[in-house]
Amino acid sequence: MQLSDKHKLKAAITGVGGYLPDDILTNSDLEKMVDTSDEWIVTRTGIRERRLLKIANKGTSYLCVKAIEDLLSKTDTDPLTIDAVILATVTPDFQVSPTSSVIISEIGAHNAFGFDLSAACSGFLYALSTATSYVSSGRYQKVIVVGGDMMSSLVDYTDRTTCILFGDGAGAVLIEPSQNGFGFEDEYCRSDGYNQMLLGVKAGGSLYPTSIETVKNKWHKLYQDGPTVYKRAVSEMYNATFEILKRNGLDADTIDFFLAHQANKRIIDSTANRIGIDSVKVLLNIDRYGNTTCATIPLLLYDYENQFKIGSKMIITAFGGGFTWGSAYLTWAY
Ligand code: COA
Repeated sequence: MQLSDKHKLKAAITGVGGYLPDDILTNSDLEKMVDTSDEWIVTRTGIRERRLLKIANKGTSYLCVKAIEDLLSKTDTDPLTIDAVILATVTPDFQVSPTSSVIISEIGAHNAFGFDLSAACSGFLYALSTATSYVSSGRYQKVIVVGGDMMSSLVDYTDRTTCILFGDGAGAVLIEPSQNGFGFEDEYCRSDGYNQMLLGVKAGGSLYPTSIETVKNKWHKLYQDGPTVYKRAVSEMYNATFEILKRNGLDADTIDFFLAHQANKRIIDSTANRIGIDSVKVLLNIDRYGNTTCATIPLLLYDYENQFKIGSKMIITAFGGGFTWGSAYLTWAY
């Protein structure tokens, strides 16, 4: 049965919160740790510094709770009214028990359920897809999507090809039924598992459980084939965004803001160039935070929230390990 447009619910982002830990790791700090230079890092990636969570016995849940507390306070939301919390992350506090449960208890959302969603750097996009479907189905009214990662827990700080790229942080959004017709409009998401070994963490899962050998081999640290990932990221973010624009009757000029996963400034610029999006519409914070994996897009929303107007047209696009990728079209609701 098709619902008439009159009865269709649209889900919208109705608030944004964020959190970055205080400790800063600059390029000059990295120069003392590995054979690299500020000039190489800035020209190849656009990154100048990143934040690291260095508080003892704190993990990803800590970053996410801080971001959600900010969101709840800014939107004056009672945590008891929250129906669900979806956490996008690649660095859960533990295996098996979901970090979203810890978050739900810590924020006092005692009427909510939640789960962790794992889709590498596309995690926030996929979680947004899930949450907006929950709300537009009419089943739930208030869903929090939080993207948070403590990448410093996976990074090998002796490997110059990866340690310069990543940082820690979290961003959260509230999803509710739209009151004015603006909100989540469309999405195009895809996955492809043929290239799993190009980006990821080899051990600690069911294929290579933790052993003395896996630890000795550093198989619990992040690795990637940077140049191959780079090329695929540009082409898939371009393809997904092209599809979204085409099927919504949009062209690059009609888009107000372009929010791409912050993995490398050159990837973002190349993708935006191929689509034809003016550089003033391309939102960036990679220079200050590096790649925070599932947190990059909500942290863009957090940093640029004041520039958005009701009805602003925006594209969100991401690409990550797996591979996973996609693009979403939103109209800003507040
Ligand atoms: N400092 C100085 N030199 C470095 C370096 C560093 N931190 N890291 C690598 N290099 C060297 C390499 O060893 C290589 O040297 P060689 O020519 O003597 O062999 C040279 O710089 C070029 O390396 P290359 O890997 O080709 O550089 P690049 O321009 O592709 O940049 C990345 C490397 C990782 C920054 C880039 O490939 C990238 O961003 N990839 C995708 C990242 C991504 O999207 N990841 C996640 C998706 S979520």
